[in-house]
Amino acid sequence: MKLLVINGPNLNMLGIREPGIYGDQSFAALCTFIQKAVAEVGAECELYQSNHEGSIVDKIQEAYGKFDGIVINPGAYTHTSVAILDALSAVKIPTVEVHISNVMEREEFRHHSFVSLVAQKTYMGLGFEGYRRAVRFLALGEE
Ligand code: DQA
Repeated sequence: MKLLVINGPNLNMLGIREPGIYGDQSFAALCTFIQKAVAEVGAECELYQSNHEGSIVDKIQEAYGKFDGIVINPGAYTHTSVAILDALSAVKIPTVEVHISNVMEREEFRHHSFVSLVAQKTYMGLGFEGYRRAVRFLALGEE
């Protein structure tokens, strides 16, 4: 099983960015955490981070026929990007959405997610653990 894990804008600033919301662990620590979660289920993964909407669309298109699952935290594009939604709909790769914070308990503009329209599952408010749950859902069908 090959998983593509996509992190969108500003997630590379983890540890620096609003630690009261996102915690004090770095993006590098998140990458190590995800790699461990993927190894635990005997899968392989590619980690990708971009601050650019079109680059994320390109990456999803390139995943067609190459990956069995996508874990995506689209960052702020969650709430704005029809283009990322359309790319995920086009490739039809099983997708799980992750948010470190609980977006439903934050500002109203964060309550709507375009990606949720195609995601099989969404984990939010669990910190890094949400990524582990997403990997296990895709690899093992574990809820
Ligand atoms: C986020 C929540 C989004 O609203 C925000 O724009 C992010 C991170 C999260 O992981 O909690 O950049 O996706």
